[in-house]
Amino acid sequence: MKFDTPATTNPIDQLKIIGKPTDRIDGPSKTAGTAPYAYERHDIVANPAHGYVVGSAIAKGRIASIDLTDAKAAAGVLAIVTAENAGKLAKGSLNTASLLGGPEIQHYHQAIAVVVAETFEQARSAAELIRVDYIRAEGAYDLAAAKNSAAKPATDEDPPDTAVGDFAGAFATAPVQFDATYTTPDQAHAMMEPHASMAAWDGDRLTVVTSNQMIAWGARDLATTLGLPRDRVRMISPFIGGGFGGKLFVRADVLLAALGARAAGRPVKVALTRPLIFNNTTHRPATIQRIRIGATRDGRITAIGHEGWSGDLPDGKPETAVNQTRLLYAGANRMTATRLAVLDLPEGNAMRAPGEASGMMALEIAVDEMAEKLGLDPIEFRILNDTQVDPEKPERKFSHRPLVECLRMGADRFGWSKRSAQPGRTRDGRWLTGIGAAAAFRNNVVQKSAARVRLDPRGVVTVETDMTDIGTGSYTIIAQTAAEMMGLPLNKVVVRLGDSTFPVSAGSGGQWGANSSTAGVYAACVKLREAVAQKLGFGSADVVFADGEVRSGNRSAPLAKAAGDSGIVAEDTIEFGDLDKKYQQSTFGAHFVEVGVDAATAEVRIRRMLAVCAAGRILNPKSARSQVIGAMTMGAGAALMEDLVIDERSGFFVNHDLAGYEVPVHADIPHQDVIFLDEVDPISSPMKAKGVGELGICGVGAAIANAIYNATGVRVRDYPITLDKLLDRMPAVG
Ligand code: MOS
Repeated sequence: MKFDTPATTNPIDQLKIIGKPTDRIDGPSKTAGTAPYAYERHDIVANPAHGYVVGSAIAKGRIASIDLTDAKAAAGVLAIVTAENAGKLAKGSLNTASLLGGPEIQHYHQAIAVVVAETFEQARSAAELIRVDYIRAEGAYDLAAAKNSAAKPATDEDPPDTAVGDFAGAFATAPVQFDATYTTPDQAHAMMEPHASMAAWDGDRLTVVTSNQMIAWGARDLATTLGLPRDRVRMISPFIGGGFGGKLFVRADVLLAALGARAAGRPVKVALTRPLIFNNTTHRPATIQRIRIGATRDGRITAIGHEGWSGDLPDGKPETAVNQTRLLYAGANRMTATRLAVLDLPEGNAMRAPGEASGMMALEIAVDEMAEKLGLDPIEFRILNDTQVDPEKPERKFSHRPLVECLRMGADRFGWSKRSAQPGRTRDGRWLTGIGAAAAFRNNVVQKSAARVRLDPRGVVTVETDMTDIGTGSYTIIAQTAAEMMGLPLNKVVVRLGDSTFPVSAGSGGQWGANSSTAGVYAACVKLREAVAQKLGFGSADVVFADGEVRSGNRSAPLAKAAGDSGIVAEDTIEFGDLDKKYQQSTFGAHFVEVGVDAATAEVRIRRMLAVCAAGRILNPKSARSQVIGAMTMGAGAALMEDLVIDERSGFFVNHDLAGYEVPVHADIPHQDVIFLDEVDPISSPMKAKGVGELGICGVGAAIANAIYNATGVRVRDYPITLDKLLDRMPAVG
């Protein structure tokens, strides 16, 4: 099905099942521990040996020699694979560094060997006996130092630079000017489930059970790396314990399980240990961002500029932190620029809302600072500079843009009017309290997505698609879609996900998964409805699917009857035309935060948070709310604690485990509310939905920073906002 004109009324609009707060259909199996994760699939991969991954002890240089003698002789060892004996490996198109390093080393903890043994303990113990001599080379590990050598990245996606009007001239002559630089640190995905895989060979056919967000990309890249035809690799990933972008691409666990299994002549399972994950896999890169805003005295933006610097390995990609500034606020004269430095740290790559998550952390403090400079309320300043068209291409409208409604509703619900415009004036015992706000913005991307649906003689519909559920609720919204389309209750729908033998879906990335994958299921169900109507001899024009029946005029039949003895199968792909070129499709929101800052110690405690989100039709308000509160929690981590600390002599992340890398826990997050605006967006898809899982993290960090400023009068432009950055600037305790 081609989607190239805005959706009209369709069966989804009945909203009998779609749009209702619905428990996860996979919830009971997950909470009871019966949902099998990658490392537990002994039903698919029998009797596996254990692989233990060895990471490089240097960040850059070469392996001079590697001595496996003692390790090979250790108890239980079946095989050891290194770059020397692995055979020829290509690099998957989505990996910047090789997943098996040597002799060249590209980053710290790059995998250099996998030891395969009967037990995990034997493999780990033997790994200790491998002796490696390295020749260390100088590397670049400090973004600030590398900033001046940063260059315009080669990219076929986003243009690195944009310019409209005369930014320099308009900024220089603006009556009110603001110019500041912000920094965000490297961050880790820190998902619950480690990267884990099991691999089994049958001749030259490889089956892997893994934890991966994008099955088709993963199977393709694994086949490329191993030099296999694409159809020899089957990838299975039905349950995933979080990804946040860290599992968008194949990583060392799956490649080394496959290589280890080939060498040992036996299936192998590999999980990356927690201390290895932080440097072996990817992370969100640090940024330096300069923002300049010029405005008239009454607060209209006349010039806005945003420059962003980040670093990555050679051939890596930039953090596109400036992108939202192309779209969020009006202003006739504008510029953005993205610059990329070469760093020899582990690979930087996508983490939840790549680009906007970091960019909004800077932009939305800058907007708060500019409003103060203008003597304007920061909400009113944002509203004053709203735009209903793409400010870089004014002929393009937004498909729907209720940013102002989000801000006003949030201000009203949160009690914004009680905020003191003067910082540092509100006290609650030993706490200085403050309120802050920020806009939320994240693009809505649509991706081609396919599904297969089968109606069986029991009247049960089974959906198959290689879509993944990374804890987001995909199973449930896909079941809701098929149930709504076929007139069935939820318990008559079975959903099977995450297998490369199923039709290729959009996968889970860039908050495109929910809208795109359900649209693919919608398309397949349209075909199934046609096949059912035809089988029953009903004209398809007036046919109604409801209560397990098919009705047409005064005739009706049970849906199961149409299935006959052999069932009916339909398959289709939703393909998106150019509606996302004609219209700018984005999601919007507003974040509100109240904090208390200890007047003596500068300890920051979040007191309450509110997000108002506009993200098209909300398919399942229950799981969508969970997505947003999870994103707000992650935003709180980004604002207050998350920070991969670099050892700049040796080039690695020092705090590479969950003891040293701090993320929020329950006690850090007292109260969160989420409100969804009642919105449908017929331009986005037949579902009229958009993404929401990444919107929720965009802007929340700045809302926290702005609340801290409101409480204390101290501006921190360097994340995370830890108490040491506040303490010597706190107001005198009186
Ligand atoms: Mo998302 S960072 O594209 O999983």
